[in-house]
Amino acid sequence: MILLGRLHALVVHFPIALLLVAVALAVWARKKGQPLAFMRPLLGLGAISAIAAVATGLILADEQTFFGVTARQLSWHRNLGIATAIVSSLAALAAFRRMGVAVALTVVGALTVGAGAHFGGVLVHGDDHFVVSTAPKRVGGSVSSRATKQVARPPVIAEVDEIPTPVPFAMVDHVFKRSCIRCHDARKRKGEFRLDRQELALKGGSEGIGIVPGNRGRSLVFERVSLPQDHDDYMPTKGQPLTAAEVELVGRWIDEGAVWN
Ligand code: HEC
Repeated sequence: MILLGRLHALVVHFPIALLLVAVALAVWARKKGQPLAFMRPLLGLGAISAIAAVATGLILADEQTFFGVTARQLSWHRNLGIATAIVSSLAALAAFRRMGVAVALTVVGALTVGAGAHFGGVLVHGDDHFVVSTAPKRVGGSVSSRATKQVARPPVIAEVDEIPTPVPFAMVDHVFKRSCIRCHDARKRKGEFRLDRQELALKGGSEGIGIVPGNRGRSLVFERVSLPQDHDDYMPTKGQPLTAAEVELVGRWIDEGAVWN
């Protein structure tokens, strides 16, 4: 899985580079009146690597679960990738018959690959344009006024009406992994509370029961995430806060019985 992810990330750079280089060289050769025969191997390699990138990407996407905004970004990334594979294959074929058509298709391919790469980057690194200020930092027990800025990942869910019934655990798990686990796992049991295993999450920490299935009102987890962000007990203390829709997602999941799989 990790290997496949690396492979896709590696392979995907070939069509990007090849198509952009092909466009640049074609423009240069046209200007200088040079023959364009060099385009054939370049476009052939571009098409093969684009197909390989789509194949590894499809397997990778199948093994991961994406919801809400990320799911939309994934489908853009996928469709632009497939479009690039088709267009660059046509360009490679056209290069043997009509070079003008091949060059035009290469330009289209360079555009789809560029746009596709943008969405790929968003999936991997989060949306750089989406910067939020996180909960205020605690310094020696008091709240400092200097809020830390950090780059946020796209929310698991943006709107309350997008929450499916029943709430899939995978969505809640995604929120926990993104915003909570780094402080509440076997390594860092802050507040003696672990959220990485069902029985420990139900048990809770030094202050009470973490999750009471069927009752968000008695669950510390829900209480902490639904506090105002400047409250001393607000969770997460650092990192990406939950959106209002994500808080509601966690609440509904608990009310529905906090099914853990
Ligand atoms: C940067 C570290 C950090 C992150 C991230 C974090 N917490 Fe905490 N959490 C703490 C610390 C420190 C405590 C203990 C102090 C306290 O109770 O406020 C704590 C305590 C808790 C407690 C109370 C446990 C008890 O019984 O004492 C709950 C429940 C909790 N966190 C839930 C969450 C949830 C849910 C998230 C994710 C939305 C989260 N935390 C993210 C640091 C973190």
